[in-house]
Amino acid sequence: MDSPVRKRLTNIFQEFFGKDGLILDGGCSEGEWCYSLEKRGYRTIGIDIVPGAIKHAHSIGRQNGAESVFLIGDVTRLPFRENVLGGYISLGVVEHFRFREDVTRALADAKRSLAPGGRAFFALPGLLVCLRNSLSLLMTGDKVGMYHKYISKSSMERLLRSVSLRVLISRHEKGWLGLSNIVDGIIKKFGSNGLRERLIIFWSNRRPVWFLSGNYFWTEKVLD
Ligand SMILES: C[S@@+](CC[C@H](N)C(=O)[O-])C[C@H]1O[C@@H](n2cnc3c(N)ncnc32)[C@H](O)[C@@H]1O
Repeated sequence: MDSPVRKRLTNIFQEFFGKDGLILDGGCSEGEWCYSLEKRGYRTIGIDIVPGAIKHAHSIGRQNGAESVFLIGDVTRLPFRENVLGGYISLGVVEHFRFREDVTRALADAKRSLAPGGRAFFALPGLLVCLRNSLSLLMTGDKVGMYHKYISKSSMERLLRSVSLRVLISRHEKGWLGLSNIVDGIIKKFGSNGLRERLIIFWSNRRPVWFLSGNYFWTEKVLD
């Protein structure tokens, strides 16, 4: 079942992505966004660097008879020729890179793989979400949370322009990003999937709050 947050964002994707091209979810984890988009008639492919996540994505697909394709891979070295993708989504991925050059490489590779006129969506957490995750790592001895490096809205805009992705919309958004990832991390480790799903729906029905905010960016590949 799609959570309200997922429904809302998928609706936004529908406004911006045409249905004729292949949509890549770069850093897809267990493939949930691919499956949400597939349900709306998109052809999707997911790539993640963690083999266990891709294995999980495959098994969810088998259970549901879905057609999305999943590959183990690195978004800084995409296994595509130039100009083949209709769209690209990157939700909470590049802030996990330790080096700025890797962020640039991922953006440049997104641009290279997109067909002219193809669009890419990037979502990144705000400063307090990044700090909260650092604190969580610190307090749990690296057991709960992921490394986050804050990238400000203006830095991300500069990075996108540096790889010639035209920024169509750049926006600060309250609280739908990274809503519950610490609690979610704990439930994922020790709890059940049913509990996790109920919790995600509970969180996403709360009013968005400023301290859980993030930035999102709609970009387009224009002819050089
Ligand atoms: C916070 S999760 C977000 C997952 C998914 N995009 C979502 O919104 O549910 C970050 C994901 O990025 C993946 N990732 C990190 N670095 C990557 C890289 N260089 N190439 C591909 N995937 C990567 C991680 O394995 C993880 O699944």
